[in-house]
Amino acid sequence: MISWRGSSPKNNRAGLLSLLVNTQVRITEVAPRDGLQAETAIVATDRKADLVRALNATRVDEIEISSFVSPKWIPQLGDAKELFALIAAEKPAGMIYSALVPNERGLQGALAVNAHARQEHGIERLIDKISVFTAASEGFSLKNTNATIEETLLRFAPVIEQAHHQGLMVRGYISCIIQCPFDGGISPIQVGDVASKLLDLGIDELDLGDTIGAATPETIEPVIMEVIDRLQGDATNPFGDPTLTLHLHDTFGHASECVKMALDLGVRSFDSAAGGLGGCPYASTETSRAPGNISTLQLLNTIAEMGYTTKVDLDAMAAASKIASGLLP
Ligand code: HMG
Ligand code: MG
Repeated sequence: MISWRGSSPKNNRAGLLSLLVNTQVRITEVAPRDGLQAETAIVATDRKADLVRALNATRVDEIEISSFVSPKWIPQLGDAKELFALIAAEKPAGMIYSALVPNERGLQGALAVNAHARQEHGIERLIDKISVFTAASEGFSLKNTNATIEETLLRFAPVIEQAHHQGLMVRGYISCIIQCPFDGGISPIQVGDVASKLLDLGIDELDLGDTIGAATPETIEPVIMEVIDRLQGDATNPFGDPTLTLHLHDTFGHASECVKMALDLGVRSFDSAAGGLGGCPYASTETSRAPGNISTLQLLNTIAEMGYTTKVDLDAMAAASKIASGLLP
């Protein structure tokens, strides 16, 4: 287990030594969720299932399959239940499937899917992890969830408790860690304060979202350092996975440089989307559309370039990326 205890991994000899030997990087593929949620065209459920099947073959650690959010807000993912039913029987052993959940209603949707999969296929848990999501900026939180940051956290408390009671892991996203399209610049302390509150609620994994791709290595470094301090040494969660994940969008072409900085600082878990699909609809403004996620192939290249490894099969990921890109007009 990596130890980040101390003010920073760079200043902590034991932590640094552990980081040096830990070269395995965890990959969460978010194309079926983040990749498709902002598209004007609604992709047919069976085509989404084809993408998930292709991603199953890549051996990524986790696939974020869909969201249990209001279909009035995100009609593109209104078929989460049907999609899970289509792919249930084909889930590879050891693969983590996850889904976004904004409130108790969303959790009930995820639990109903698991109950159905148990009944139909004898699967203990089809959805292994739920992701709650808030932001470091009030403007984005209101636009994205019709709630202040504090209100989102109040919603999460019973969701996290029930999810844990059902044996599910919980990821907590913080959006707009660098810049908000509505509120402007965000300070590392703002991100750290939300991170601490999510950790107090008991999340198993913290996921930092550069929602509009504004980060540079210089601006992301203090944010990661601040959050590592808030983690107080918890580099690995009770499920044996890294506690800290980075979720980058690649608007200005700085995502790979940010990955390199994050690897240097000890981050060992990243999100990415096959084909570089994606973007958050509530991060778009009237004049600019929210950009795509860092593409998984680009992320894998950057990780390899830095001398780190993943479990991902590159040929299978190239094939899945082709399918992902083909989903859009
Ligand atoms: P609201 O309108 O304030 O909620 O939305 P409400 O409680 O008044 O409910 C409105 C309607 O939605 C009601 O239906 C509810 O029943 C229904 P009606 O009575 O009008 O027929 N409803 C639901 N239906 C299905 N599932 C649910 C659910 N909840 C309520 N879970 C709410 C509040 C949070 C629901 C809404 O704002 C919402 O769904 N927001 C989701 C927005 C979203 O998904 N954004 C993208 C994900 S975040 C992201 O992409 C960033 C990330 O990638 C990281 C990064 O890049 O930074 C993660
Ligand atoms: Mg995103």
